Amino acid sequence: MKLEDISKVVVAGAGTMGAGIGLCFAQAGYEVNLYDVQPEQLDKAMTRIGNSQEVLVREAIVTRKAAEEARQRISTSLQLDEALDEAQFVLETIPEKLELKQKFLAKVESLCPPETILATNTSGLSITKIASACELPGRVAGMHWVNPPELVPLVEVIRGDQTDDETADTVFELARRIGKRPVLVRKDVPGFAMNRLQFAVFREALHLVETGVLSAEDLDQTMSYGLGFRYPWLGPLKTADLGGLDVFHSVGSYLFKELSTMQSPPESFNALIAGGKLGIKSGEGFYHYEEGAREQILEKRDLYFVRQWKLIQEIQKA
Ligand SMILES: NC(=O)c1ccc[n+]([C@@H]2O[C@H](COP(=O)([O-])OP(=O)(O)OC[C@H]3O[C@@H](n4cnc5c(N)ncnc54)[C@H](O)[C@@H]3O)[C@@H](O)[C@H]2O)c1
Repeated sequence: MKLEDISKVVVAGAGTMGAGIGLCFAQAGYEVNLYDVQPEQLDKAMTRIGNSQEVLVREAIVTRKAAEEARQRISTSLQLDEALDEAQFVLETIPEKLELKQKFLAKVESLCPPETILATNTSGLSITKIASACELPGRVAGMHWVNPPELVPLVEVIRGDQTDDETADTVFELARRIGKRPVLVRKDVPGFAMNRLQFAVFREALHLVETGVLSAEDLDQTMSYGLGFRYPWLGPLKTADLGGLDVFHSVGSYLFKELSTMQSPPESFNALIAGGKLGIKSGEGFYHYEEGAREQILEKRDLYFVRQWKLIQEIQKA
């Protein structure tokens, strides 16, 4: 399947990720079917899409007319065969369970012509294992989006051991065509690239807080006003190039061996989970959240992401 042959996309699983992903395809002109097994999820997804579009219109990312046209390109379905009718690209965003994903893609495969591309938004399960349930694993690739998918530009395209070149190329080009910034993850390693980087930082953050080196607030500030402040513009390797590789080499020589290598979550983190402190959804995690704080925090987060992306594009063009 070539990029130019794709006009209809199915996003299966209309939850946290599926709704925003569907919106991205629709905004780029694709006909989109959102498929789910629960009718209320489809209703919620359409409401979330409407809310996201309001932000995008308010921030002049899209015109109101374009937003309405995009919305009209999105249909919903509770019937898989109906959803798949004439689709050339299927992305599953159903829950993160290997067997569920395997069974689902095998079913999709049985209902689609052999050239249809099947992709999975798994956060870190093996693409090779997911694809092993299909008769044609060459047509299966990983396409890992970042939440909120309509605002974060990165999409990781992951090759399973049997993903064929055409599939990987088409998924990559498709991501680019809808305005994302894809990267190709050439090997099917657990966590791909983004989650490996995220959890390398998270492990060290947990270690620093657990051992009393600094408070949770100061840990987050170190990232927001220091390391993370640079990262939207300079990745860790370019940061090292600009700082001087000799300097980074010297620091690495004594610091690498000091960094946390813990193999499982530490006690303080286990205690939060055991105490029902699951973060914003339970009102407490590393921080305490007042009733109703969630909406405000998410609204500011989204506004920040939209403006950061605008700024990056503006400076890249300059
Ligand atoms: N939430 C995130 O931040 C995030 C980020 C990147 C990747 N992912 C991955 O994306 C996938 C989906 O995550 P989510 O957070 O959107 O989950 P979610 O629970 O919000 O949504 C899953 C949806 O799938 C539907 N569903 C369940 N079984 C189904 C089936 N057999 N057929 C069709 N629909 C079915 C559910 O009704 C639900 O609407 C997971 O693999 C997850 O690891 C999530």
